[in-house]
Amino acid sequence: MAAITNILQTDLNGLKLKNPIMTASGTYGYNDEYDEFINVAELGAVITKAITLNPRQGNKHTRITETKAGMINSIGLENVGAEMFIKEKLPVLKSKNIDFIVNIGGSTMEEYVKVAKIMNDNGVKAVELNVSCPNVKSGCIEFGVDEELLYELVCRVRDEYNGYMAVKLTPNVTSIEKLAQAVQKAGANAVSAINTLKGSSIKVACHNGRIEKTTVTGGYSGIGIKPVAIGAVIRLAETIDIPIIGIGGIETTEDVIEFIAAGADAVQIGTANFTHPDTAQKLINGLSEYITSNGFKDFEELKKELRK
Ligand SMILES: Cc1cc2nc3c(=O)[nH]c(=O)nc-3n(C[C@H](O)[C@H](O)[C@H](O)COP(=O)(O)O)c2cc1C
Repeated sequence: MAAITNILQTDLNGLKLKNPIMTASGTYGYNDEYDEFINVAELGAVITKAITLNPRQGNKHTRITETKAGMINSIGLENVGAEMFIKEKLPVLKSKNIDFIVNIGGSTMEEYVKVAKIMNDNGVKAVELNVSCPNVKSGCIEFGVDEELLYELVCRVRDEYNGYMAVKLTPNVTSIEKLAQAVQKAGANAVSAINTLKGSSIKVACHNGRIEKTTVTGGYSGIGIKPVAIGAVIRLAETIDIPIIGIGGIETTEDVIEFIAAGADAVQIGTANFTHPDTAQKLINGLSEYITSNGFKDFEELKKELRK
């Protein structure tokens, strides 16, 4: 593994990673749960479930449903809350030498700022802001869909948090580029793209003429969103200078290569973890093999060639 680690090393504007393969927020728990499948410490980084100031139970049944090409979730930000994360989860991540990024959510700007400050004061080196959360103070409009709101949010977190900050963009907007520009101007170190797409699934059962409907509305993810994500990454790469972490439907080494060719500097694996929890590990090996078998020196050289 040492040789693989060396050729895959990368630096995302100040965040040094042993490789560019990470696991996406909400699909990998707090990351200590996956020990039986892979050596989590070998991943580029793992992103925690969104942490809010107080613990959240999340939504009631039905929170997840499969579709033909992915899944829809409406988990509702279930998480242990900042205090419990610091007390119970953080020591485990640190003791296992896992490189991690804490995903932060909130219902108000003040909540994001407080959680970021808690992370700062407890030595968390990198955070990712999940801005697809409704802002209760402006009619529950998501922070990530309004340029001015997003700019203010990122500036305020930047003031309280000294570490590395990525901002995770939502695709549910007219121009993801404008939001990315606001995020860059506010002092973020990177953007992650994309979060889930808004979607619904209706399953209909008919019992002797009586119709029974099960509707799940939430975030659509998985293989079906890959073209949307690739499109977003291409447009972002044409617009901003800070690194882009590509996310959306990644399952194979070819998917990783395509995201890097589109302009991503690293990637995250989400929904694929539910069916194959060792996907990220396989992609690290696959990327390494792709580099060596095609005669490239390392990941940085491959990246340059893919961008020509
Ligand atoms: C069950 C589930 C929970 C998620 N929870 C979060 C979350 O807490 N914070 C966040 O920023 N994104 C969350 N996401 C979005 C993923 O991190 C990722 O951006 C999205 O699923 C697209 O990637 P994929 O197609 O590889 O799954 C969640 C996704 C799923 C499927």
